[in-house]
Amino acid sequence: MKPIRCPVVQARGLCAGVFSLWLEAPEIARRVSPGQFLNVRVSDGVDPLLRRPISVCDVERSRVRLLFRVVGRGTALLGRVRAGDELDVLGPLGRPAPEPHRKEILLCGGGIGTAPLLLLARRLKRNNRLRVLLGARAKDELLLAKEFRALGLPVSLATDDGSAGFHGMVTELAETQCKVQSGGRRSAASRQPSVVFACGPRPMLADLVKRLDPIPVWGFVEERMGCGTGICYCCALPKKGGGHIRFCEQGPVVRLNEVVF
Ligand SMILES: Cc1cc2nc3c(=O)[nH]c(=O)nc-3n(C[C@H](O)[C@H](O)[C@H](O)COP(=O)(O)OP(=O)(O)OC[C@H]3O[C@@H](n4cnc5c(N)ncnc54)[C@H](O)[C@@H]3O)c2cc1C
Ligand code: FES
Repeated sequence: MKPIRCPVVQARGLCAGVFSLWLEAPEIARRVSPGQFLNVRVSDGVDPLLRRPISVCDVERSRVRLLFRVVGRGTALLGRVRAGDELDVLGPLGRPAPEPHRKEILLCGGGIGTAPLLLLARRLKRNNRLRVLLGARAKDELLLAKEFRALGLPVSLATDDGSAGFHGMVTELAETQCKVQSGGRRSAASRQPSVVFACGPRPMLADLVKRLDPIPVWGFVEERMGCGTGICYCCALPKKGGGHIRFCEQGPVVRLNEVVF
């Protein structure tokens, strides 16, 4: 696979430290599936040398959208990209997320983890019943609620500080919406999903699996990668029953119920 140079057609800050980029990338737009990511070169020189993996958040005709949070030097450089610049990208990479049919699906995003769920929602809504839970520390940091609603999906919000929606963690909201209440009754909003797709920080993913057990939870693991080809075990998560899951090879979307957190 060869790197492609893609013109940036829109670059926008969404909230503190979070940026959205639209790239003109017809080839990628045609081929990409939900769950896949691009390996983005963040500087024209050799420092930093490694590309940074960023999920494809959305696709519109010949364009693809990336949404990212600045956490270090690479993403800070990416945050300086402007419309009219060009980005050197490699992809789409990674295995696409599974595509259930005729299922009751819950999408659960925490912070920047909301990004890859939008393209997934766009594709899955054709054949499934979807609802979306979005969590963030505070109201200003909730991402993409407008976009999910524009797809016609019901969206519930959770904030740690209670500034919007449910006051608490998005995993708590997921539990109250999914589980049978004591006495065998469900709350008005509760429907048990047949499958959950989640993306967010690792502690959020671990908590979600615990709270929703035994519902299958597929997680987008967006932790650090080394080689990206299955050799270095830098991305490996221990697996129940022994062995490891290398999410660069088997993911980045993996069945979290099989992982030891
Ligand atoms: C498959 C995949 C898809 C991803 N998709 C997205 C996306 O859509 N949007 C997005 O914002 N990010 C995404 N990420 C995470 C993104 O790649 C990292 O945030 C980025 O590589 C950090 O590079 P940096 O040079 O800015 O930070 P570095 O200088 O490498 O690190 C700075 C600090 O951030 C911490 N850090 C670095 N990477 C991560 C990480 N992945 N998770 C938590 N902490 C980290 C480091 O431990 C360090 O403390 C994805 C990662 C993977 C593997
Ligand atoms: S990043 Fe090297 S094995 Fe996955």
